[in-house]
Amino acid sequence: MQFRQELQSLSRDFHLPFKLFTFYFPLFTFYLVHMTKLGILLSGRGSNFEAIADNIAAGRLDATIAAVISNRAEAPGIESARRRGLHALIIPSKGRTREEHDRAMAGALHEAQVDWVVLAGYMRLLSPWFIQQFPNRILNIHPSLLPAFPGLEVQKQAIEFGAKVSGCTVHFVDEHLDHGPIIVQRAVPILETDDEHTLAERILEQEHQAYTEALRIVIGGRFEIAGRRVVIRQL
Ligand code: GRF
Repeated sequence: MQFRQELQSLSRDFHLPFKLFTFYFPLFTFYLVHMTKLGILLSGRGSNFEAIADNIAAGRLDATIAAVISNRAEAPGIESARRRGLHALIIPSKGRTREEHDRAMAGALHEAQVDWVVLAGYMRLLSPWFIQQFPNRILNIHPSLLPAFPGLEVQKQAIEFGAKVSGCTVHFVDEHLDHGPIIVQRAVPILETDDEHTLAERILEQEHQAYTEALRIVIGGRFEIAGRRVVIRQL
């Protein structure tokens, strides 16, 4: 009886006549249960997360965002996740050891049953323990063509080094910083007029496309990892 009432209330939420809703409900539930679930970790602005969420909403990526976690309460990205009605959590890292914090995050990600962990400007190293919880299931995006310029302030590093080309890299996460097998890279020329901000802006445009491209590959299972190489099967 209570279940029927809940269904009736849901049918009202979806503005569908009850009969039509009960017809579609099992299909919809099946679809949701089998949908690939992403767990996003971020610490700041969250433009990569927003690009992924927009691509999902536009039907360009077959997945759902099951959780967005920030280690910083003031991260604009978490506010954006809330506005989009997503399951948004703040798990503060301050005052906790890396492993304590990682355990809390892994708990939340497992609870949300995520299939893939997506680092989108998550500015904290993950412990080997956390990485082992999601073997080859954690992706990161980095604003340079790895292995050149790992770490921080990489656009500045690239300009100061005199590089003519930089770009972005989406890669699997392993125990070393900005190091795991590479899934997608996009090149961006460095102009003589560039400073770190103009270069970062042009790289970011590419990041927003590259992350979805990499997610499509891994979600579709169109890859094999052979040593350091990610071998992609073309569609
Ligand atoms: C991006 O440049 C990403 O490559 C790096 O951190 C930045 C995050 O930007 N890991 P945003 O928070 O996604 O806007």
